[in-house]
Amino acid sequence: MISLRHIHKTYKQGTLEVPVLHEINTNIESGEFVSIMGPSGSGKSTLMNIIGCLDRPTSGEYILDAVNVLEADEAHLALIRNKYIGFVFQHFHLLPRLSAVENVELPLVYGGIKKSERRARALEALTKVGLADRVDHLPNQLSGGQKQRVAIARSIANDPTFILADEPTGALDTKSGEQVMNIFTQLNKEGTTIVMVTHEEEVAAYSKRRIVLRDGRIIEDRRGVLI
Ligand SMILES: Nc1ncnc2c1ncn2[C@@H]1O[C@H](COP(=O)(O)OP(=O)(O)OP(=O)(O)O)[C@@H](O)[C@H]1O
Ligand SMILES: [Mg+2]
Repeated sequence: MISLRHIHKTYKQGTLEVPVLHEINTNIESGEFVSIMGPSGSGKSTLMNIIGCLDRPTSGEYILDAVNVLEADEAHLALIRNKYIGFVFQHFHLLPRLSAVENVELPLVYGGIKKSERRARALEALTKVGLADRVDHLPNQLSGGQKQRVAIARSIANDPTFILADEPTGALDTKSGEQVMNIFTQLNKEGTTIVMVTHEEEVAAYSKRRIVLRDGRIIEDRRGVLI
């Protein structure tokens, strides 16, 4: 489903060139649950942004479900993101003035879904993450774990084929982190592909494959039970 070939990324800062990713070659198949690990600054978020079509590599090839992503224009990329990808971030990225259900509805607005169906789908997604009783709360009326569950509901409302999560438990206590990982595990059982960045062994243990980056290169890629 995801094929990355000879991906390089170099950031330019004035005249200085900062190489960040080197020769990334990997496939991620439909239904996988992958952790991306590695030290701070090793390129994990950069790689996630490229996979999520939020950023482009300096060179290489990225095929996503038969679409050559790097040849697509911005409008096409926006469509790909909306149709295929759900995003979950460490700090939730909820809009503070919108209620839980309105936050979850947002990507459906961009997806052109009509109002009544938007509400129904958003409520369904919030129910799935155990927040049916919090739909009218504003983000500042929710705990960290609840905010992250709203963010997950938002990421699944469009029924994406895969979820990209960058340190989804990084700002959560252990118990809330476990709840989030149990939701991801359930979504993965139902067929959603999950690619997740984490620093924590206990969190990575929920996944079925582990890719480790160091200095912008893949130094390890293991499948199977990892403990
Ligand atoms: N927009 C940018 N311009 C220049 N350099 C950048 C930019 N974004 C990231 N970098 C550099 O690229 C490298 C990789 O950054 P990245 O955010 O991918 O790391 P990471 O593995 O996600 O780290 P962390 O675990 O701290 O989140 C870092 O050295 C960083 O300074
Ligand atoms: Mg990062």
